[in-house]
Order: sequence, then structure tokens, then C-alpha cells
Amino acid sequence: MAKPKVLATRPLFPAAQGILNASCDVEYWTVAERISREELLQRVKDKEGLVCLLTEKVNHELLTAAPKLRIAANVAVGYDNIDVEACTKRGVVATNTPGVLDETTADFAWALMMAVARRIGEGEALARSGAWKGWDLDQLVGTDIWGKTLGIVGFGRIGKAMARRALGFKMKVLYADAVRVPEAVEKELNATYKGMNDLLAESDFVSVHVPLLPETRGLFDGPRFHRMKPTGYFINTARGAVVDEAALVHALESGKIAGAGLDVYENEPFIHPGLKRPNVVLAPHLASASIETRTKMACIAAENVVALFKGQRPRNMLNAEVLKAN
Ligand code: DGY
Repeated sequence: MAKPKVLATRPLFPAAQGILNASCDVEYWTVAERISREELLQRVKDKEGLVCLLTEKVNHELLTAAPKLRIAANVAVGYDNIDVEACTKRGVVATNTPGVLDETTADFAWALMMAVARRIGEGEALARSGAWKGWDLDQLVGTDIWGKTLGIVGFGRIGKAMARRALGFKMKVLYADAVRVPEAVEKELNATYKGMNDLLAESDFVSVHVPLLPETRGLFDGPRFHRMKPTGYFINTARGAVVDEAALVHALESGKIAGAGLDVYENEPFIHPGLKRPNVVLAPHLASASIETRTKMACIAAENVVALFKGQRPRNMLNAEVLKAN
């Protein structure tokens, strides 16, 4: 029997290729440059499965171009690139990769926090520049992390992983979320539930871990940055569009906040020039980028595709109703 045709918009990793190739006839996009929209729409035409990245929009246009498509497997936990409703309407299963990148992402958010507070970027540039004149008492003095207050906005798996790290740094942890976690979890993580305004006003570091949803788009706007301490730092490893970037630039320029550590941007790969300041540490959307985690993410996406074609329910369905209806 002919294997189902699948398009993977990246070569993935050997482990994920192994999973996919065993059951599917896979076309991999192997060109170093990412696939153009035109090319994607062309190549997906005759495919039943798609393994895609967060940079590819799975929307009405793509679904129309791919009438045979049965699954779009995102290699990411965030799925704001996928119009799940449109997929559901067309009977296309959409999947993501939750659960495997929480600790890796929290590690990176922690690294950004440390880097901006302790001025690692500036120090590294000085050390490499040849202009370093030796130790000095007030040279690149930053601010402590240990013992400070960490405000976590979005207390899901990654937010909780941040709170666990904060225990080792003897930090006070505040969290804001639509849902309060059980008391036992608060106790275990030494975390206090707060309204957003109080969290912003009391935290030395604010770290964002909410998904991008209509209700979180532009969540961090001018008034919210205004509520933060002038000595406070803003860390974002979630999605750029949860921030009004112009408002963040204004908060940084006007000294309303002390600095920021950013991995994500409103219009990636564009980075607002106003963010390129010494008190901002910038990374190019790397938070889950460890070889272990990225391999797991690719494997999960591959397994989701293979499961569907074997007549099983993929583990990470975003629209479970598609298969219930069949
Ligand atoms: C995700 O998975 O949503 C991250 O942004 C990339 O790992």
C-alpha cells in the first residue's frame, strides 16, 4: 500500500526522520533558506500530512491549497501560527509538542534574567574588545538576583519551572494567572498568587510565560510597564506579540524599567531598533534550542503524524473533536 505523503518544512533531526520515514513518504525541505510561502503552498498540494514550524502559517489559504491534508503537526508548543478553527472545519488534525520543552525554556529565561541583571552581554563585549583595563570597583556593576522578588505571569508548566529555580536563589515568588493553582502547589513552590497590578508593582523581575491568545495579545502595554518598579527587569520567552513593543521601548528609553531580557519579538525576525540597548539582552528565539529538546519536539511531531496514519489518536491534538466526529 502506498505510504501517505508528508511534507516536512525542515529536515528535522535523524531520530524524527526515522519515525516519519518508516510509515510515510516524506518530502523534506532541505534548502538552507526557509521555504517561501509560494513554495510551501505548491508543495503541500498533494500532501496528507504536514510537519511545520512556528514560522509557517497554517490558515485558510494553506488549507485550501492542500485539499488532501489530514494533519498539520507543529514542531512547537505555541501554535498561534495555526488557525485551529479553520483546521477543524476542514477536518484537519492540528497538533503541537507540549511537555518536553518546559525545563529547557525555563533555563533560558533564567539565563536571560541573569545576563541582563549581571550585565553579561556588556561584560563579554568588553572582554573581547581589547579595551579592558583590568578589575575596577564599580565596573559594570549589575544587580543581584538572589533574594529578590520574581513575578511570574502565566503559571503553567514553564512558569512553575521558573518558580522551582527561584527556590534555589532564595527568591520571593509571585505569580499571576487566570487560574489559581492548588494550595499545595503554592506551598511547594513557595509562590504567592497576586493580581497583575500588584505583581508588577512588587517584582524585581517579571517573567512572561503566557501563550499568545486574543486575550494576551498586547498584554504588556504602556500602563503595565508604568506599574513596574524603575529598578525592575522584564523577561519574555513566550511570544513577542504579548508585548506592545513600542511601549516597551518607551519604558526602557524613559527609565520606567531598568532593562529587559528578550527572546521573542512582535514581528520576528524584525527587532525594533529601540530594543538594541545595552540594558537589553537580545536572543533570536532560542529558548527551547537545546539539541535534546529540539530533537524531542521533532520526534513528537513525527509521532503525531504517524499515529494518525496508523488510525490512532495523535497524543497532542489541539482539535480532538476532528476525530470524534469521524
Ligand atoms: C514553542 O515551542 O512555542 C517555542 O516558541 C519554540 O520552541
